[in-house]
Amino acid sequence: MHRALITAALPYANGNLHMGHIGGSYLPADIYARYCRARGREIAFICGSDDHGVPALLSAREEGSTPASVVHRYHERQIEDFSGLGIEFDIYGGTSSPNHASVSQEFFLKVLENGFLEKKKSKQLYDPEAKMFLPDRYIQGTCPHCGGKTLGDQCEDCGKDQDPLEIIAARSAITGAVPEIRETTHWYFRQDLLQEKLFDWLSTREGWRTPVKNFALGMLRQGLKPRAVTRDLPWGVPVPLPNDPDAAGKVLYVWFDAPIGYVTFTKDWLEARGRDRERYADWWKNPDVPIYHFLGEDNVVFHALMWPAMLLAEGTYQLPTNVVGNSFINIQFPGKDETKMSKSRGTAVWIRDYLARYDPDPLRYYLTLIAPEAQRATFRMDDLFRRNNDELVGTLGNFVHRSLTFVQKYFDGKVPPSTPGDEPSELMTSLAHLPQRLGEALDSFRFKSGLALVMRMAREGNRYFDHQAPWRQRKENLRQCGGTINVCLRIARSLAVLGAPFLPFTSEKTFDLLALKTEERAWEKASEPLEQGRSLPPPRPLFAKIE
Ligand code: MF3
Ligand code: ZN
Repeated sequence: MHRALITAALPYANGNLHMGHIGGSYLPADIYARYCRARGREIAFICGSDDHGVPALLSAREEGSTPASVVHRYHERQIEDFSGLGIEFDIYGGTSSPNHASVSQEFFLKVLENGFLEKKKSKQLYDPEAKMFLPDRYIQGTCPHCGGKTLGDQCEDCGKDQDPLEIIAARSAITGAVPEIRETTHWYFRQDLLQEKLFDWLSTREGWRTPVKNFALGMLRQGLKPRAVTRDLPWGVPVPLPNDPDAAGKVLYVWFDAPIGYVTFTKDWLEARGRDRERYADWWKNPDVPIYHFLGEDNVVFHALMWPAMLLAEGTYQLPTNVVGNSFINIQFPGKDETKMSKSRGTAVWIRDYLARYDPDPLRYYLTLIAPEAQRATFRMDDLFRRNNDELVGTLGNFVHRSLTFVQKYFDGKVPPSTPGDEPSELMTSLAHLPQRLGEALDSFRFKSGLALVMRMAREGNRYFDHQAPWRQRKENLRQCGGTINVCLRIARSLAVLGAPFLPFTSEKTFDLLALKTEERAWEKASEPLEQGRSLPPPRPLFAKIE
């Protein structure tokens, strides 16, 4: 596999990024992208902000500005947060761009032309104070099924879908006004017509995470219904039917335009590199290019069902190769119960706050350790500190630092020669096999086990160091001591090369400390010995303790 298209779910440009976002979508995607680049694969790593939707509109209303300015502000912050964490997209677009409007309108028209969009009248709730139709999630009242308090189109208490018109004592969640019933026209996406095709496709996917596949198949068995993909809102991509009076004032549903953003940004990326925008087909319509979507639990339905249905309905695209979905990350504060990370409940830990005080790699490390690949995970700040201190400082950092300190103190700062006969064969074998084993883990999206392999090598390095006792060897046989340190440096190189997708900042430092030139940092050379006699700079610790 030499090429790959990698996407990470577009975050809403209506709030800051927290630990859950990063651990669930962006970090695993970045690790995978870095790994692919290290293997010399040609990739496009695509992301951008999801600018549309009701929340940005309401924020703008609240602060007396415009959705565009709200979105701009958060878009900029997202860029800062991602770059602070070393999450390096090839492009970071935004769905409120003019380019995106035309790409998604063209897509819509194609789906319409292919007979998968149907215009239908319906009755909906209208907020006379906010002067807008109420989006489903903004209606509160009593659930007609269980009598519990409910919000939106699905009851939080009993989980049943509900028709907003049947909600008892309905109120607008925006203004509290009693809504009126008004008639409106919308375009419905006939995904139900694709039910069988989707089932055949989904049930034959291999290498998908079990929860993702099962969840999507479960939804499919319940049956897909036609779904309205237009909205009466002043913010979004206008429905591109200028001659149809029913289309006036209507925009595409945010979940219809957002995934098309992946396509828009691919085109923008090509253009930014001086290529023809139309070359996007080389990525999106080319069976030789696998497409991987990274995202959190709440996005699985959209990427495993609705988006593939849209692609089938459009008719010229290939379907995603894998939908790499993660579960949620809950959070636990000392002495409190575990809870969901939520902005409204004040239980989210913001990336900006973290980065103002600490280095990015300990966070990348911790979020990969707890990665919610198969089940939900729990984030605990005290746990992050502890594992930084015990594992990054205590194991990885300590191993590299003590090896380098020996070079400086006893070998005049130069890489000592190897002593081939003395090399520990088992350790050398695991060192030689590590790139392949790690590659297998990462190619099957098992990031947690990939990181464990790297850390195991660091522990083996420490064990070897302790066992050889170079501080004794130095007095008895300096040449042998040099052989030990030579092996340790080789392990350090491998840790830096193979650890780079997880801990890019640390690897960068280690490369410098090992005086490795760019071509010597290559994945294929991970297990090779360092050139003997090369001068190394004075060591400095890779990690700092966090108290
Ligand atoms: N903005 C959505 C969320 O944060 C994700 C959109 S992903 C896309 O849940 F595919 F639609 F772009
Ligand atoms: Zn209910």
